[in-house]
Amino acid sequence: MTAVQFETQRLLLRELISADADVIVDFSNDPEFDRYRLRSQRSEAVTRRSVHQAILASTLIPRMYYALAIVPKPSTTAAENSLIGVLTLSLDWNPVLLANIGFEIHPAHWGRGYATEAAFAALQMSFDELGVASVMADCFAANRASIRVMEKIGMQRSRSWIDSIALRVAYGEMRPVVRHQVRRDEWQQRLYRKDPE
Ligand SMILES: CC(C)(COP(=O)(O)OP(=O)(O)OC[C@H]1O[C@@H](n2cnc3c(N)ncnc32)[C@H](O)[C@@H]1OP(=O)(O)O)[C@@H](O)C(=O)NCCC(=O)NCCS
Repeated sequence: MTAVQFETQRLLLRELISADADVIVDFSNDPEFDRYRLRSQRSEAVTRRSVHQAILASTLIPRMYYALAIVPKPSTTAAENSLIGVLTLSLDWNPVLLANIGFEIHPAHWGRGYATEAAFAALQMSFDELGVASVMADCFAANRASIRVMEKIGMQRSRSWIDSIALRVAYGEMRPVVRHQVRRDEWQQRLYRKDPE
């Protein structure tokens, strides 16, 4: 297995390790954070199992799932080397290679642009290293912060009602779920801009 690790301006993105589960469980308990999680994800046991599964998935070939710890570099104000969030990237052949990304940040660090910086890095990794045709991200329609992150990194919302119904069914939720997406050609057109908006 080749461990994935890379840096952005303020962040280090590295593979999850078992010890990260405690921090993730801790911030997942915040009610503000919990509001936007799927019902199926709302338990400590599920959180711990997902960390374990992510570590297992990192050993599989071909690798189809990445869960990376988001860690501020020591020069920033957050506590040195502690994880403040998780970035996920899931690959699927359907019929071309597609990526679905997700991001979560400890509520104590919201509003500092960390999710935007990490999500932009996920687009770079998807298009420049993994060669995907399109990257998507899903969240509840009420999750304004998440939608804003997707907009800032150049994703556009799918207005298809079929998508809208399919997403609710796929996630098993009554609340509306929205999908944002950016294709490789759209990404290439905006490459002159090196950073998120
Ligand atoms: C969504 C989430 C990752 C954002 O993290 P973050 O580090 O605070 O995000 P950023 O600071 O990069 O950007 C947030 C943007 O949303 C905006 N925002 C925050 N709350 C908002 C609200 N209620 N309405 C509208 N915009 C809002 C911020 O102002 C900012 O936009 P700006 O830079 O134009 O001002 C974080 O809220 C989170 O972890 N939520 C729970 C998990 C989740 O919902 N994950 C997304 C599913 S993929």
